[in-house]
Formats: sequence, structure tokens, C-alpha cells
Amino acid sequence: MATTISIADIANYEGQEVTLQGWLYNKTGKGKLQFLKVRDGTGIVQCVAFKKEMPEEAFEVARRIPQETSLLLTGMVRKDERAPGFPGGYEIGITQLDVIQEAEEYPIGHKEHGVEFLMENRHLWVRSPRQWAILRIRATVIRAVRDWLDDHGYLLVDTPILSSSAGENSTDLFEIDYFGQPAYLAQTGQLYNEANMAAFGKVYCFGPTFRAERSKTRRHLIEFWMVEPEMAFFSLEDLMDAEEAFVMYIIQQVLEKHRPELEMIGRDLGPLESIAAPFARISYDEAVERLNALAAETDDPERKSLLEIEWGTDFGSPHETAIAEMFDQPVFVYHYPTACKAFYMQPVEGRPEVCRSVDLLAPEGYGEITGGSERIFDLDLLQRRIQEIGIDPENYKWYLELRRFGGVPHAGFGMGIERTVAWICGLPHIRETIPYARMLTHLTP
Ligand code: 4AD
Ligand code: MG
Repeated sequence: MATTISIADIANYEGQEVTLQGWLYNKTGKGKLQFLKVRDGTGIVQCVAFKKEMPEEAFEVARRIPQETSLLLTGMVRKDERAPGFPGGYEIGITQLDVIQEAEEYPIGHKEHGVEFLMENRHLWVRSPRQWAILRIRATVIRAVRDWLDDHGYLLVDTPILSSSAGENSTDLFEIDYFGQPAYLAQTGQLYNEANMAAFGKVYCFGPTFRAERSKTRRHLIEFWMVEPEMAFFSLEDLMDAEEAFVMYIIQQVLEKHRPELEMIGRDLGPLESIAAPFARISYDEAVERLNALAAETDDPERKSLLEIEWGTDFGSPHETAIAEMFDQPVFVYHYPTACKAFYMQPVEGRPEVCRSVDLLAPEGYGEITGGSERIFDLDLLQRRIQEIGIDPENYKWYLELRRFGGVPHAGFGMGIERTVAWICGLPHIRETIPYARMLTHLTP
């Protein structure tokens, strides 16, 4: 009996007879020689069906079966530098081949397909090598996120998805009927993180978050995964230090584990390999000055108007892209106008029109990948902010109460997994970074 192996481990079986369980990905060849590319979820290997070396019926099977047929295959592992595949460098000389289920005509063949069609067939598209590579990288990003936090004294404390009030703002909430009372899908776990921070010091939550945004951009999803660390006694500077180390670790893990995948999706590794701490840290004021200076130097009137910015307005994506281009590195922009940000952000001492917030902008036009701040911990000040903004303090009763029982300076941030994966993989659109994207026009599959 041949050993059943995973393609990922094929290098350990050179010269041995093995069995593979998988799917036919592609087939070429003619006459007495057929090349079957077989994938098993862990990799792709070229398997050679040579009429003289296998039973007649098995060869007929090899010749007949279409793409995505599930199969059981036995053969000899041979080393061959030129053999295509993932990891590549080995092929299998087939000695036996059995069909598990012969596939019907596969809608996603090897020709080009439009993105709309692929999105409609996402349940099949996830099998394509490029999508497979991206989702493997996503899994490593998530693992790196957890490992770094777990290894640096942060405790995972889960926060609820169903909530009775807004977290960030009330404009993009998903409302549901909670036994006759309105409830909302979580936009953030932050408010609960702040309660947990006072119990455990450094905490994080990590889960899906929901924004009923009508925006149809390449950076926005309706459902996305966010990791949110929250730390007692952290200043804005501590926050930036932590984010920097965290992001560096994620990049390093992906580069260490997924060079072949990055190459497979055509990622230019140069910009990724050159990411190095410390990242630039500039204030919103400075960013605005730099943008307007750049606009002044620009002849193209259209670009000029995209870059120009009035103090007090939030950045659009052309602004974020231009700022990151000035540094060719991720860049922290801190002290945004208070009016642009959420109600809970700590105002800057003596200059309440700006707050102790920070966004991390990724290079290569990927924009904001993290957003965070110091939080207001003074009860009176927070009550005043809630009043100024005009939200109902009744909805924030327990949140306000945290400021009555040992309030401390604290800070935290949120990082969107999909934006991070899009940047690391160099993808033009966020939709490929999540297995089943939820967008304005996509709820199925
Ligand atoms: O800036 P945001 O809205 O921050 C918060 O929710 C804070 N409560 C986080 C915190 O301080 N604990 O979102 C944080 C990050 C963004 O930087 C971005 O990476 C991602 O979440 N994000 C989105 N990703 C995909 N689609 C969307 N619609 C996103 N909105 C935010
Ligand atoms: Mg933000």
C-alpha cells in the first residue's frame, strides 16, 4: 500500500510510491502522454500518465476526465527541477487513477473571466491558484496578529457582535430586531475593550465588524475583520511604537512564509522588503501643509484640485496616497481635527480642535490600515463631548461609568485585516482578500 501524502510534503517522498487525493486542475498532452496538474488543497503537482506504465482503463480515465474531477491517484515521486506546480520541482509518474466524482463542465475554465462573473462564482473561484495564494496569506496575517499580541502580554477578550447602541457613529449601523427592541451589529468592539482594559491591562478583540456604508470603493467592505488592541496607561507615542512593531512582525511573517505565494500572484517584493521601522510620524497640520505645497507645484489642474485641502477636512484617498508616496513607507498621521473623528478621542491639551488620534497610512496607495487614539478618561469631559455631538448619553451609561471607577489614560487602535492583506498582496481591490466579500452589490455566495 502506497502512503497517502499531501502535495506540500512531496519532497519527503522522492523515489517512493504515494497516493494523492485531490482534484484535477489542468490537463495537457496528447496521445500516449497526458500531463495532469492535480491539486489537493496543500499544493499543485504535475502527474504524468504514460500509457505504457499504467493499466489501460486508468489511462483512459486520465484521457477522459475534465477539470475539477475529484480523484485518487497513485504513482512514483520523481525529482525534476523543471516540473511546474506548487511547490514545484517534483512530478508523479501515475500507476493508478480512480475517479471519485467526474466533474460537469466547469464554469471557471482556464480562459479569462470578468470579475463580476468570478464574484458570482466565488464558491468555485476560491479554488483558483491566485485566490488560494491570497487566502493562505490572509491566514498567516491573522496568525501573525494573534501571535504578536499573545506574545506581548495582550489578552484576547471577545466582545459582542449584537449591541444596543452605536460604537463609532450612528450613520452606518445595521439594525436588527432583537425581540421587539432595536439592536445593532457591531461596528467596533472598542467600547467593550475599554471595559476589559480596566480588568486585564492590555486586551484585544478580533472579529467581524459591520458597516452599512453605501460606499462602493475598492477599500470598503460591509463586513470586515478588525483586530482591536486596547491598552491601559498607553500614550499616543506608546500606541505608535506598538503599531510599528506589530505591523513589522506581520510583514516579516508573510515574507518568511509566503514568498512563493507572493510570486505566484505577481507581487513586486521590492517595496515590501524595504519596509523598515521606524515609520515616519507627521501631524495632520504638517500633512496638510505638505499636500498644499505639493498641489502648488503641480501643473495638472485636476491633480491640483485632488491634492489641495482645507485645514479641518478629512483626507480622501488621493490625499492618503500622496502622503504615503512622500515617504515610500507606512506613515503615521497624528492629531487629526477633533471634528473629523469619533467622540471618545482625547483632545490635545490647550488645542481642543485637534485630538490625540493616529492613522497609519500604507504605501503604494493603500491608504488607512489602522485608526486609533488616546481615549477621554475624564468623566466630565466625556459627558461634555457627548452633549456637543448630540448623542444620547442614555446609550452610553455603562461606558461613562468606566470613568467613575478608576479611569486611567488609555489608548487603542483597530486594524482592518482586509486592507492589510490587500496592501501586502498588492491587490487592486479589497474583494479578493476575504473568502466571501460582503459589498453593496454582493451578498451571495
Ligand atoms: O478607523 P476605524 O473606523 O476605527 C474604529 O473602528 C476604532 N473603534 C478602532 C479602535 O480604535 N479600536 O476602523 C479601523 C480600521 C481602518 O483603519 C481600516 O483598516 C478598517 O478598520 N476599516 C475597514 N476595512 C474594510 N472595509 C471598511 N468599510 C472599513 N472600515 C474600517
Ligand atoms: Mg478610521
